[in-house]
Amino acid sequence: MIGRESDVREIAATLAGGSSVVLAGPRRTGKTSVCDAVLGRLGRRGFYTAAVDLFRIATAPELAEALVAGTIANRSALRRVMHQTRRAGRFVADALQTSAVVRSKTQLGEELEIAFRPGLAARDPDGYLDYALALPARIAAADGKEMVVFFDEFQEIASPQQPYGDADRLTKRMRAIFQRSGAVSYLFAGSLEHLMRDLFTPAHRALHQFGGFHDLRPIERDAWERGLAERFAADDCSIETGALSRIVDYGELHPRTTMLIAQKSHLTTIELGSTLVDLGVVEQGLLAALAVDRAVHEQTVERIRRLHKLGLVVAERLARGEPVYTRLPRGGVRRALEALRDAAIIESRARADWRFSNPLLRRYLATMGPFDL
Ligand SMILES: Nc1ncnc2c1ncn2[C@@H]1O[C@H](COP(=O)(O)OP(=O)(O)O)[C@@H](O)[C@H]1O
Ligand SMILES: [Mg+2]
Repeated sequence: MIGRESDVREIAATLAGGSSVVLAGPRRTGKTSVCDAVLGRLGRRGFYTAAVDLFRIATAPELAEALVAGTIANRSALRRVMHQTRRAGRFVADALQTSAVVRSKTQLGEELEIAFRPGLAARDPDGYLDYALALPARIAAADGKEMVVFFDEFQEIASPQQPYGDADRLTKRMRAIFQRSGAVSYLFAGSLEHLMRDLFTPAHRALHQFGGFHDLRPIERDAWERGLAERFAADDCSIETGALSRIVDYGELHPRTTMLIAQKSHLTTIELGSTLVDLGVVEQGLLAALAVDRAVHEQTVERIRRLHKLGLVVAERLARGEPVYTRLPRGGVRRALEALRDAAIIESRARADWRFSNPLLRRYLATMGPFDL
């Protein structure tokens, strides 16, 4: 990773000190990468760690299974049995009889079987989920360890589809259980900032002030230039100064965009049989990056259309740097901006300073339109 040392260090220190941390910000700005690095760092210091990504988990029983599996994987014997079970599929009964599993079940509860028996958790989702949420503290106590549990895309808890049941009820159970989990701290990341703030900020919410918000620092220009130059050098390429600063311009300091353009520029250079990244190559790299995302951008345009009737015209004006209110009803424009913000398409840096969360989407809207005909 480029330019995230202090974020990783600070978050790890807070968690190691026993406090929980919330990381909220737009997609693809590096939250998951930072959290993974934090867990890696703490893991090397002897902490137990577990991570669940709610984007990949559709129901409460699955959440219970994933959490139990991630938690018990900290015991290497259990991790091995889980790998074998997954590969063999049907030898579940054998797995349950291995001495490691039998011993762990005595210590940590029969319920840990759900990690080996897909479908079992569905018989009592509430019961197993309570068990799963409490398990990190149990294993930490049994093994004399400290532990960090990472929930990625945590705002899914509060999504309108209620994948894990009623959000208020679930967060109350979480708070009650987490509060008792002395040796465990929690890391929550989420890409819908307003939902994350709403889960952790208002006084009436169960997770009110449960974790402190950490804002990732912007990665500055010179950190990008240094980091990218090192990457190119590691790949036996050199890059012209102008080309380097052009990549950073096009990336608009957005991690995933900057890296994507750099990767595509690198690839183009190799394909040309060259080892020098120049301005021409960077132009190709930008086009290749736009091409990668084109289908997604087309879908986003459709989504913007459905968000608000002024959504697309407002988005296009923002993308082109034009004043948004001109000859449009103020209230409507304001609601369109809010809808775009709530969909995490734009974010506000300061009053009336709206930025696109994805610079490539901005470029797509600015150059491919007008869509609002
Ligand atoms: N600091 C960084 N340096 C290099 N690449 C990064 C950095 N931060 C993010 N990336 C890359 O950007 C992409 C998106 O990062 P990710 O951590 O998944 O973001 P998020 O979790 O916020 O959606 C990944 O491909 C990741 O490797
Ligand atoms: Mg992520």
